[in-house]
Amino acid sequence: MSTHTASRQHDASTSLRRACRQWPSRKVVLTSVFLMLLLLLYRNSTYLGTNRLVSSSSSSPPPPSASSPPGGPSSTEDIPPIVHLVQLKPAEGAELHFSFQAFLCVYSAFLHIRPRTIFIHTDFDEGEIQAAAEHGSPWTRKVLTAFPAGVVRLNPVTAPAEASPGGLPLQRVEHRSDFVRMAQVARHGGVYLDADVLTLRSPASLLRAGFRAVVGRQGDGHVNNGCFLAAPGAALVALMVRDMPAAFTGEWQQHSIALLTPLAERLAYVPGEVLIMDAQAFAPTGWWDESAFALYAEAQGDDEAVGTVQQVNVDTLDPFERWDNRTRGRDWEMDFSGTYFLHAFKAMWGPVPNFSGINVPYVLRRRSNYALAAWPIVMQGIKDGMIDEAEDSL
Ligand SMILES: *[C@@H]1O[C@H](CO)[C@@H](O)[C@H](O)[C@H]1NC(C)=O
Ligand SMILES: *[C@@H]1O[C@H](CO)[C@@H](O)[C@H](O)[C@H]1NC(C)=O
Repeated sequence: MSTHTASRQHDASTSLRRACRQWPSRKVVLTSVFLMLLLLLYRNSTYLGTNRLVSSSSSSPPPPSASSPPGGPSSTEDIPPIVHLVQLKPAEGAELHFSFQAFLCVYSAFLHIRPRTIFIHTDFDEGEIQAAAEHGSPWTRKVLTAFPAGVVRLNPVTAPAEASPGGLPLQRVEHRSDFVRMAQVARHGGVYLDADVLTLRSPASLLRAGFRAVVGRQGDGHVNNGCFLAAPGAALVALMVRDMPAAFTGEWQQHSIALLTPLAERLAYVPGEVLIMDAQAFAPTGWWDESAFALYAEAQGDDEAVGTVQQVNVDTLDPFERWDNRTRGRDWEMDFSGTYFLHAFKAMWGPVPNFSGINVPYVLRRRSNYALAAWPIVMQGIKDGMIDEAEDSL
C-alpha cells in the first residue's frame, strides 16, 4: 500500500470518527443558534409581531417529539443548505451499503448544493458503520470516508417501530424511512433526497424563493415525497409529522404522497408557505415501463451515443444561446433544462431491457438519458479524484 493510500485511509477513518461523534458539536451548534435567535428577537422587536413564533402556540403546533430547534422556526429564514438522506437497516444482520447510484446522489448534492452538512440518518450502529467504512464496497467506502471532514455526518436515529404508540407496526423499512425523513427535515430544515435522486444543478434560487417549503409533482400528479425542500419547522413537514401516524394504513401511499399532496395544495394558499413545482423540476420520469425504459435503457447501434458537441443539454447559462442551441443529438434525448433534481424512479414491474445497472462505464458511454444527466457529475468526479474511471462496480 502506498503512503498516499495509507494517509488517505488515515484521514478517512479520522473523518469517519468525527462524523460519528457528532452529538457534542451539535449541542454547541444548537446553543449558538439559540443565542443568535435571542439576539435577533432582541434587536428587532417588530419581528415578534408577525412572527409565527407567536401564533404557532395557538394555531399551528410545533412538530411533536420536541423536534424543532430551541427558539422555534423563523419565518424569514431561507431553507438551509443541509442535505438529508435516510439509510435504515432493512433487516437484522444487514450491512450498510451504498451503490454507485447512491454515491452519485451524495456527490451531486455535494457539488451543486454546496451543503454545510449532508446528514445520513441511520440506525446502523457505530461498529457497523466503521465496518462498512473499512470493508464495504468501493462506493460505500467513498460515501463514508472521501468527503471533506465534517460534511457527511452519520446521524444515529431510532426508527419508529409503529406508526403511533400502540398503533400499526411499521414493518417495511421504506415506511420507517417515510417517518424519519419528515421528522428530521422538520427539525433541521433542508433538502431531503431519496438515494436515487441526482441533483442536476444548484437549487439556490429555490432555497431563497421566499417559501418555507418547495415540493414537486410526479408524473402521476401526486406531490413527490422522495425529494423536497423545507425550512426547519415549516408547516408542511410539521403537519406531516403530526398527521402521518393517523393516516398510516400499512399500504404505500396513504401516509406519504396521498397525504402530502392535498396538504401541499391546501397550504399553497398561505403566502410563503408552499411552492409546488411541476414534474419537470424534481421528477421528470416515472416508474411505469415506458418512462423508466426511456431513462435507463441504452440505445444500441454503433453511432447511437450522444456526442458532447451536439446535445440538447448544453450547459450555457446565456438565455439567448440556450434557446438557439436546443437541437437534440439523438431523437431519444430528454431535455433536463427544467430539472433541478432527477428522481430516477426504477421500473416497477421488472427489469429494463438494454440495461445492466449504473456504473462508471455506463455513464461514460452516453447511451441513455440517465447517463447523459449523470455525465457532467462523473466527469467532475474524475477530475477531482473522487471517481476512478476504471472502477466498474455497481
Ligand atoms: C433494446 O435493444 C433492441 C435492439 O437494438 C431494440 O430493438 C429495443 O427497442 C431496445 N429496447 C429498449 C427498451 O430500449
Ligand atoms: C451554439 O450554437 C452555435 C452555432 O451553431 C455554436 O457556435 C456555439 O458553440 C453553440 N453553443 C453551445 C454552448 O453549444
